Formats: sequence, structure tokens, C-alpha cells
Amino acid sequence: MPWISSGVSSGRLPALVASPCRSLIASRSLFACCPLALRLLSARSGVLQAACETIPGVNPHTAQTGLTTGSAFIRACSRQPVAHTPVWYMRQAGRSLPEYRARRAKSPMLEACADPDLVTEITLQPVRRYGVDAAILFSDIVVPLRAAGVAVRIQPGVGPVFDQPIRDEAAAARLPPLEPPAIDFVAQAVRALTAELGGTPLIGFAGGPFTLACYLIEGGPSKTFDRTRSLMYGEPALWSSLLGRLADITATFLTVQVEAGVSAVQLFDSWAGVLSPEDYRRSVLPFSARVFEALGESGVPRIHFGVGTGELLGLLGEAGADVVGVDWRVPLDEAASRVAPGTALQGNLDPAILLAPWPVIEKRARDVLARGRVAEGHVFNLGHGVLPETDPGMLARLTDLVHAVPAGPGC
Ligand code: CP3
Repeated sequence: MPWISSGVSSGRLPALVASPCRSLIASRSLFACCPLALRLLSARSGVLQAACETIPGVNPHTAQTGLTTGSAFIRACSRQPVAHTPVWYMRQAGRSLPEYRARRAKSPMLEACADPDLVTEITLQPVRRYGVDAAILFSDIVVPLRAAGVAVRIQPGVGPVFDQPIRDEAAAARLPPLEPPAIDFVAQAVRALTAELGGTPLIGFAGGPFTLACYLIEGGPSKTFDRTRSLMYGEPALWSSLLGRLADITATFLTVQVEAGVSAVQLFDSWAGVLSPEDYRRSVLPFSARVFEALGESGVPRIHFGVGTGELLGLLGEAGADVVGVDWRVPLDEAASRVAPGTALQGNLDPAILLAPWPVIEKRARDVLARGRVAEGHVFNLGHGVLPETDPGMLARLTDLVHAVPAGPGC
């Protein structure tokens, strides 16, 4: 697979020059099961990282080896100055891309997610096409549940469906833990991707315990999650038991990704916005915090995102996030005042704006960039995922625009 030319953020990387960095990554993968060896390797990696950095055009790689730490994306997440605002898009790899539709044509979604070669190819597609500042692992929030042994299928055009919803203690007790070997296909894909991506960071992700619980309790998608909320209010012991198990599964899913080399993680608690701040704080925040805590001293930036979470932005940060993702409902300058000092923001162009003519997109994108300057760090993104009917040409123009606008002071 060719090295990626990611526009402004990184250049084409000759294999010969990259080889010290590649061998470091390969040895890191080999020792992934041995923490002591990893620590020794990390000490060595300072030297190798310096070697990589002294070669022009070779960027840092993963957060652990230091190979991506100089990227605009990691710098903005860490609230360090950047020349341009980094940009990536939720669902950048997906149905809006013709090359994605071609590759997925013969593979059902969950089978595709379990095929490391296909995951690698699909994850790289938007990086090649747009030159975005980060890749996001192609997977789904229900992948760890399926790997743990839960029966789930994805119904095209509907979403995840569980034929045996969890609504009592006996069913919650049957929820199996996730054993890392069951997601070895994820580790394999992450290792292949970090070896291909050069200085472009790879973002790992998982669904938040609440959003996973929504699907498990309802049995499928819902607009209001009434059953989930009523179980949360009425059966606190069952709720804690279920959310605790889901937090552990999520923590394992993310830890495997971090150990395999992702540079950042995003927790998608997409549906947390259906809760009041008090209920979120009492019944969800402790479990999401447990997930972030499990990532310990890994040092990878933690992004926390939900839809309709304007009233929860401060709490999403409090759960342990370095970066809070904002949907399109709250302007970023206002969002900046709702999170604690020391928090960067990600967002927040309405995905539907991309269906409008270019002058409208440009005006709105410039507005997002201007408001984002108020934040301590800003990663440009949409307020939710790319809509399937989006013209990839518009995303290409948008990426170029974001890269062309100089980042302001403090960005
Ligand atoms: O472009 C695509 O959406 C095609 C691939 C696909 C994904 N998930 C990738 C994905 C498909 C068909 C699914 C199934 C699925 N799972 C759906 C969509 C159903 C449909 O056909 O419309 C839904 C809603 C889920 C559940 C889910 N998955 C949620 C709530 C989230 C969190 C993000 C969000 O949208 O709120 C996911 C994560 C997810 N699924 C990602 C990807 C690539 C996350 C990474 C990213 O943003 O790129």
C-alpha cells in the first residue's frame, strides 16, 4: 500500500527513511503483551524519535513512540499552538465515498469490521482523498459486544438490532466480559494502519456505556430511549450492574486499541443528550469516567462526544476528557465557556450544511473557525457524522479551506 500524501499536514514518506521508525513500531507490537519490555522500549524510543524528527519530511508517528506528537491534531488536542486548525470528520470513511461503497459491496458491516485488511483500506480512503489531519478506525460501537459473544446484527438502513434485549438482572449477568484475544482483528488493523499512516494520527473509538445500554435495552434504535430511561430511574441496582459491565467491555476495547498504537481515542456517547445534567452526573458519568481512567497513564488525548449535549458539555469534560466534541446546536465560543479551563473543543459544522451550495458552506465553516479561536484548542469537525448523500467534492473543498485559514493565537 502506498504511503499517504496528507496535504498540508504530512508529505510522502520514503520507505527507506521511514525504516527506523517502522522497526520501532514493529518491536512495540511484538512486546505489546509485556509492560516491562514496553517501558524499556519507550525509553529507547526517545532516541529513535529524535532520529525520526531530524530527518526532514518524517513526522512523529504514534503518541506512544512520539511519532505523531508534532501533528496539528495532537497539538490542538493538547492545546498547543498550530499553524492551521486540524480537521477530520466523523464518519469520514463511509457511505458518502464511492470507493467505500465499492469495497463494502460484498461484505456485511460486521464482517467488514472483523477483516483487518478491509478495515485498513476503508480507514485510509478518506485520508488519501481529503488529506484530513487524522484517520479514525473503521469499526462500529457494537463490535466489542459482538466479540464478547452478544448476538447482534446490523440491519441496513436501521442500525444495530439485538433480538434478546437486556431488561433484567439475569440477562445483565449473562453479559460476558470482553477478552482481548477476541478483538485481535482490531489490534491487527491498528498495527497495519499506524505502519501506513506516517505522521498522521489514528483515532481509536468506542461507544459510551450509556449509548451501548440504549441499544441493548431497547433492542434496537430509538428516538427517545424511553425504556432505557425508565430502567435507569426505576432499577438503579440493575442499571449499575449493566453499566459497570459495559464500562469494562469498553475499557478493554479501547485499551487494546491504545496498546496497538492509536494516537487518540474518542468515546461516542451519542445519545447521552436525552438525559438531564443531574441524571447524567448520577447515573452515567461515573461509568464513562471509569472508562477514561482505565486508559491510565497512556497519555493519548481523550475526546468525549454526544449529540444534543449542550447542557452536558461541562460534565463530558469532567468525566475525564481532554477534548469535548460539540454538535451544531451550541456555537463553539459559547461551548468554550461551558467547559473547564484546560479543555479543547472539537466540532461543529452542521452535517446538513454540506448539502447546501459552496458559498453557504464556506461562510459557515469560516464562522466555526472564528468561534473555535475562543477555545484553548480546536479540532475542526462536523457536529455529527457525514451524511451518506454528501458530495465528497464538498468535503475536499472544506478540508482545503480549513487548512488555508491560519489558526489564530491560542489555537
Ligand atoms: O457510513 C456508514 O455509516 C457505513 C458504515 C456503518 C457504520 N455503522 C460505521 C460506523 C454502518 C452501516 C453502521 C451501522 C450502524 N451502527 C448505524 C447506522 C445504521 C444505518 O444504516 O444508517 C448506527 C446508527 C450504528 C450505531 C453507531 N455506530 C453509533 C451510534 C455510533 C457512534 C457515532 C454516531 O454516529 O453517533 C457508531 C460508530 C460508527 N459506526 C463509526 C463508524 C465508521 C464511528 C467512527 C466514525 O465516526 O467514523
